Amino acid sequence: MSDLLLTPEGVRDIVPSEFKRKLEIEDKLLGVIKDSGFLHMQTPSFEYFDVFSNDIGTTPSSMLYKFYDKEGNTLVLRPDFTPAMARAFSKLYFNENGPVKLCYCGSTFVNGTELNGDLKESTQIGAELYNDDSCEADAAMISLVVKCMKAVGFKDFLVSIGNGNFFRGLCDQLGIEERDEHELRRLISARNYFRAKEKLAALNVNEEYTSLIVNISDTYTTKDSLIELRKRIDNPMCTDALTRLVGIVDLLDKEGFGKYISIDLGLLNKYEYYTGVLFRAYTFGFGDAIMKGGRYDNLVMQFGKEAPAIGFGIAVDDLLEALTSLEQAGKTGKNEYLTFALTKGRLADKTLALLEKTGITCEEMKDKETRKLIFVNEELKLRFFLAKGPDVPTYVEHGVADIGVVGKDTIDEEMRKIYEVLDLKFGKCRMCVCGPENAKALLSTRDMIKIATKYPRIAKKYFNDVKHQSVDIIKLNGSIELAPIVGLSDCIVDIVETGSTLRENGLSVLEEIYDLSARMVVNPVSMRLHSARINGLIGKLKEEL
Ligand code: PRP
Repeated sequence: MSDLLLTPEGVRDIVPSEFKRKLEIEDKLLGVIKDSGFLHMQTPSFEYFDVFSNDIGTTPSSMLYKFYDKEGNTLVLRPDFTPAMARAFSKLYFNENGPVKLCYCGSTFVNGTELNGDLKESTQIGAELYNDDSCEADAAMISLVVKCMKAVGFKDFLVSIGNGNFFRGLCDQLGIEERDEHELRRLISARNYFRAKEKLAALNVNEEYTSLIVNISDTYTTKDSLIELRKRIDNPMCTDALTRLVGIVDLLDKEGFGKYISIDLGLLNKYEYYTGVLFRAYTFGFGDAIMKGGRYDNLVMQFGKEAPAIGFGIAVDDLLEALTSLEQAGKTGKNEYLTFALTKGRLADKTLALLEKTGITCEEMKDKETRKLIFVNEELKLRFFLAKGPDVPTYVEHGVADIGVVGKDTIDEEMRKIYEVLDLKFGKCRMCVCGPENAKALLSTRDMIKIATKYPRIAKKYFNDVKHQSVDIIKLNGSIELAPIVGLSDCIVDIVETGSTLRENGLSVLEEIYDLSARMVVNPVSMRLHSARINGLIGKLKEEL
């Protein structure tokens, strides 16, 4: 076959039948948005780099498609609409101070990771409301998200609503510095509460506030719980944030949309431009949010006009994937099941032993001779499959497994969008720099050294960020200890459990990077749509550990 027939990775032809369906969905979404008074407009596919630069945009510069015009200006294909719309609004409506409602539909381009199934050109539809900072405006935008989800046929979906100001207010009150706040924000967003707890202890945060922060996502999910929480907090930024959320829930309740809403005070965004309410829509059939939005009162100012704003974007391709997957699942009843992806080998055995203590068994899996790949416990509506370690986070990120058990090393190396909810305390080992004793001297210089590893990301981060040393990384897939012995590298970065592999090969630990153990990871959508079952399981596992 001629190479001319191929499309680059991340872009695709859409066949007529699929395109017809896509257009129908786009029409429905745009119809609902336009019926709410939003004016459809277009911005160019490429703009000056500065419109999407790190201070403004949400896409890292390395993931932008960049090129130059004849004058040598750097241009980028738009990775996202919000900054482009803010620029256009600031220019076209500079003298307008009343509410302005605009909407858009078009392609966005992100030069993301290779080979993970993500599209590099995808369609986004969205709406932006400017010059209105009221609670009613927040509720109206969330209500529009609910209407969009209903219009395309979703029945079982959830819109999580948070308010970043609550967490910001807590950090101010506790005197937590920006760098620590950033780290806590990352841990809470990943629901890594056991690590957040350690961090808060190091910051001398008292028990009451530690408990509040580590329960931030799961305890205060209803209007009543927010009202109770407001009584306990004496900090205007936090109480205002809660009052705003209560107001939004009241308005959505009046519309009859309460059943689609869940509060999540742990819904935080790493992007500075979000200033208040944040929301995301989740449904079965896709492993991530398919609509995302929030208030960003400081963004338009970057383009010279002071104007509060709130908006959301719909990932149309992801939405279509969710709809298709749900149609198929409708026939198989797939969503009743909780699916576990376990790391083949010792970790799986230990996980099954632990699960058994909580009353979860899977007899089929005990047959060591079986070649089956998927095991089912019909009574408990559970499914299990075994996978190679590095594949477990991938299955969980894509939502085909709700829960995974995998080593911390693999989680850090794969960097998937998953929640790390529990340290299972088994599979304990250490990530280390190892090599012959005489290689130790090389580690105290800043000279370039050769490191062989199965963990290039972890190795690079350690050498660059912690040691500020340049390294040449050689990726290997196993028996890493061989590399320095045969002269392929100076040292290795690898896991050490008992240390016997090193000893038997005349190598030793030169530096320790950090401790590792098995972790339970959860898909962010499953965490919300199966919250009672998954939180119940986490609770039982905690009692056993
Ligand atoms: C791991 C690791 C080390 C060894 C350490 O390898 O990569 O080689 O275990 O264990 P020890 O300290 O108890 O000797 P694994 O057995 O997973 O296989 P691999 O070499 O193919 O990666």
